[in-house]
Amino acid sequence: MKFPDSFLDEIRARLPVSTVVSRRVPLKRAGREWKGLSPFNQEKTPSFTVNDQKGFYHCFSSGKHGDIFGFVMDTEGLSFPEAVERLAGEAGLPLPKPDPQYERAAKERLGLYDALEAASAYFEEQLSSREGREALAYAERRGLSPATLKEFRIGFAPNAKEALKATLIKRGFSEAQLIETGLLIKPDDGRSPYDRFRHRLTIPIVNARGRIIAFGARALDAATEPKYLNSPETKLFDKGSTVFNFARARGAAFEHGELVVVEGYMDVIALHQAGFHHVVATLGTAFTERQMDQLWLLAPEPIVCFDGDRAGEAAAARAIDRMLPVLREGHSFRFSFLPQGSDPDDLVRNEGAGALARCLAEARPLIDILWQRECAGHNLDTPERRAALEERLEQLLATIANARVREHYRRDIKSRLFALWRDIGKRSGGPAKPSPPPSAGKSGARPLPSAHGFAITIILALAHHPSLLDHFAEEVAHLDIRQKQLAELLGFLTEAIFQDLGITREHLAELMRESRHAKLFDTLDRSSAFKRIAFLQPETAAAEVEEHFAELIYRWTTLKSLDKEVQDQALDLADLSEADFEHFSELQRQVANAGLRHAADDAGDRDSAKRFQETIARLKGENIGGQRGRRPDRRADQR
Ligand code: UTP
Ligand code: MN
Repeated sequence: MKFPDSFLDEIRARLPVSTVVSRRVPLKRAGREWKGLSPFNQEKTPSFTVNDQKGFYHCFSSGKHGDIFGFVMDTEGLSFPEAVERLAGEAGLPLPKPDPQYERAAKERLGLYDALEAASAYFEEQLSSREGREALAYAERRGLSPATLKEFRIGFAPNAKEALKATLIKRGFSEAQLIETGLLIKPDDGRSPYDRFRHRLTIPIVNARGRIIAFGARALDAATEPKYLNSPETKLFDKGSTVFNFARARGAAFEHGELVVVEGYMDVIALHQAGFHHVVATLGTAFTERQMDQLWLLAPEPIVCFDGDRAGEAAAARAIDRMLPVLREGHSFRFSFLPQGSDPDDLVRNEGAGALARCLAEARPLIDILWQRECAGHNLDTPERRAALEERLEQLLATIANARVREHYRRDIKSRLFALWRDIGKRSGGPAKPSPPPSAGKSGARPLPSAHGFAITIILALAHHPSLLDHFAEEVAHLDIRQKQLAELLGFLTEAIFQDLGITREHLAELMRESRHAKLFDTLDRSSAFKRIAFLQPETAAAEVEEHFAELIYRWTTLKSLDKEVQDQALDLADLSEADFEHFSELQRQVANAGLRHAADDAGDRDSAKRFQETIARLKGENIGGQRGRRPDRRADQR
């Protein structure tokens, strides 16, 4: 119901924030305000303040902020109307009268609640009756203690068609009411309505206010189908917005700051008996948005338990798809996988509470499970497959409605992709070993040029144009820079860019200057050789920068594959003709200096890239063919 603002103001006026708060948090005066330890975080110095004049509290450690209603909602997990009701009571104010129509509907509902309550009392009685012996024995076999049976109000529906019906009608409930609660089934063919639950163990399903809204009922033997029979959806019972054990788990969840979600309600009951009181269950349906909102009322990151088998993995995968759209700041889920083939009930019964506690302690964040689901078992050997992974991830992330969370997922995934590409790059082929130096006897031979020029150019390009990483993450990840300091500098740069996509070059430069790479970066950045490179200039158009960068990367990769070929095929440089060798080493130098050369002669460069490709092709052909240009005698000479 909607409360008039004047009513809420009246409650606020009667209950200073410090009064409401100090019941949970010891407060000390600090000038006009009050101070205390945050109820939301573990802390040693107080960062929680209360201002009675302004009527709110603020928690600097968690950023939480609100009035008395917000405080009760935040610390006790109540809904807004519940908080209002509670505080109105404390303030000595009667709730405002709702309109008559609402009242009539409420009364009707009350009748239904009463019917369910009466049914539960009847079932409970039956469990301790003679007729209920078989059910009681079943419950005992499952290890349920008398205290647990009482706590959860477990009962027994006798094996009769009209046992409950007769009892409740005698108590004054109408047949129509009993049908509406789902306790009776009304046959289509006009026969008399009869009891829905027969010869089963009954478990009341209770709403957030602790009222029975439905029943779940377990068959007593394996032959009976279905194993569980639940109440149908009714005015009171909406499966998709019901969380089993919500009301009972509330307090414990708040105490722990944690909540565990399992699949079956029998699991909840068994876990409660084993000392896990902060446990709830969904009712055999996929997660709904409403259920997730309720879970978040109790804990920011509930742990969802799944079986460790394939079915559990599939269920977790389905859950992820339902969770992504509703994620919001600070609110997520963690995933816990139990040992193969055992549900939480089996686990605590067979291996004790510690076994479950260990599983829960290893719960993993949603993004890990998402990442694993998308990458595991997928072959990523080709660019197309890697592109497909990227595409899948992008589509998934697009389903996150909350823009801020989505953005942070993007960053995290980018950085994971980056690491993945790097690993794949290392595995396939491995880092190219340095080329064998050309034989000393060869006239005009120069040592092969170092690749540092390349690495530095790449680093400076990224520093000056951080957005390059948007398009070239995979390529940059594949670069295998062997000079340690340069590799670390590049690592720092990429990580900084992933942490803040859209970072400006000024901000990035600032980060570099504050880092341990400051000196190296400064030297490189100021080096006159690199100053001349046109595409490193801030005013160069983005498209042009990208084009040059792409080419630079292309050359680097080509150089590496050439190195690798030399290695793999024992291509001996000494076998080359004089002219070929000249060409080869000239190409290597060009490749290594390509960054520098962009400043000078573009057209010529492109031309040489082409020649470079042709030469590689030719060298390959010759080596495999082993015909032309082979001079084994000469090779022997040189040894
Ligand atoms: P399970 O069959 O996994 O339950 O169903 P369980 O708790 O391990 O059952 P036991 O230990 O054999 O008694 C999990 C949940 O799925 C729903 C129920 O909500 C159950 O708690 N379910 C299952 C049904 O609604 N109907 C069924 O026939 C089976
Ligand atoms: Mn079970």
